[in-house]
Amino acid sequence: MKEKILTALREREGYVSGQELCETLAVSRTAVWKAVTKLREEGYEIDSVQNKGYSLLASPDAMTEAEIRSWLHTREMGQNLVCFEDTDSTNLQAKYLAEEGAPHGTLVCADQQTKGRGRRGRAWDSPPGEAIYMSLMLRPAIRPEHASMLTLVMGMAVADACNELMEGNMAGLKWPNDLVINGKKAAGTLTEMSAELDCIHYVVIGTGINVNTREFPAELSQAISLRQAAGHSFQRAELIALCMKYFETYYGLFEQTEDLSLLKKDYDRLLVNTGREVRVLEPGHEYTGTALGINRYGELQVRCEDGHVEEIYAGEVSVRGIYGYV
Ligand code: BTN
Repeated sequence: MKEKILTALREREGYVSGQELCETLAVSRTAVWKAVTKLREEGYEIDSVQNKGYSLLASPDAMTEAEIRSWLHTREMGQNLVCFEDTDSTNLQAKYLAEEGAPHGTLVCADQQTKGRGRRGRAWDSPPGEAIYMSLMLRPAIRPEHASMLTLVMGMAVADACNELMEGNMAGLKWPNDLVINGKKAAGTLTEMSAELDCIHYVVIGTGINVNTREFPAELSQAISLRQAAGHSFQRAELIALCMKYFETYYGLFEQTEDLSLLKKDYDRLLVNTGREVRVLEPGHEYTGTALGINRYGELQVRCEDGHVEEIYAGEVSVRGIYGYV
């Protein structure tokens, strides 16, 4: 009910009459009034004027189901939505839900994580009130060896969503999927999978986005937030909904070919490594080359010093800029 009222108020600039709300939502005037009162208690500023109705003036930056749903316009992604004020890790929660039979497209969000996890066994700092911690659970009918490409699909969705909200093309991607602004990391993705040799049970794509962080601890000197880059704060729920919108579109294109053929051009447009020297750290073998872009499997093509081109698979190697993080 609260989310339906929020959606109705958000869709309209100006006032929506109480009568219209009652008719669209098929509820009584008292029910509308009660829901508006609850929303006000949660920090929403809702003006009410006799003979005009209600108007939404300001919203708290809440990571609640009602707030996220009021922005969400997808068919599938995020439609089954689970929100936590705090949890251990949204990836862990998404995996539990998957084991219990949750549907494809289930999204888990949290305002805070106590055991946030990053790639390569690292921890992911997850304080409350400033960032996005979200995990999308999919049941893709694809071969397990193709699942790592989904990380790149999410990277693109997050980059495009951030660029849309920041009204510019400030954000790019460091291969395979770190979101980069001004040479610093603004978001990262950890993808996990439960599969047999030839079939996937589920995939969990977990993304952390530094949205409204004002200052990072000294050890995170390579981190940046959208707020720091743009000079103002963002509504986290709106950004989550935009990420889901872009992901749904890109996932549809990925499904058509089961690779990145239809997305490669857009991915390369976002890739900040292109034309730059990179250091490739393979187990037992390190070398330097120039990043060219990705192939249709999402592998990074690197021209080595002797002119031949290597195709690098994300799982095995990491790539560093030779003058810094990018
Ligand atoms: C990285 O190391 O770059 C990946 C970071 C992924 C962090 C996100 S936050 C939401 C989800 N839950 C986790 O525990 N990790 C991912």
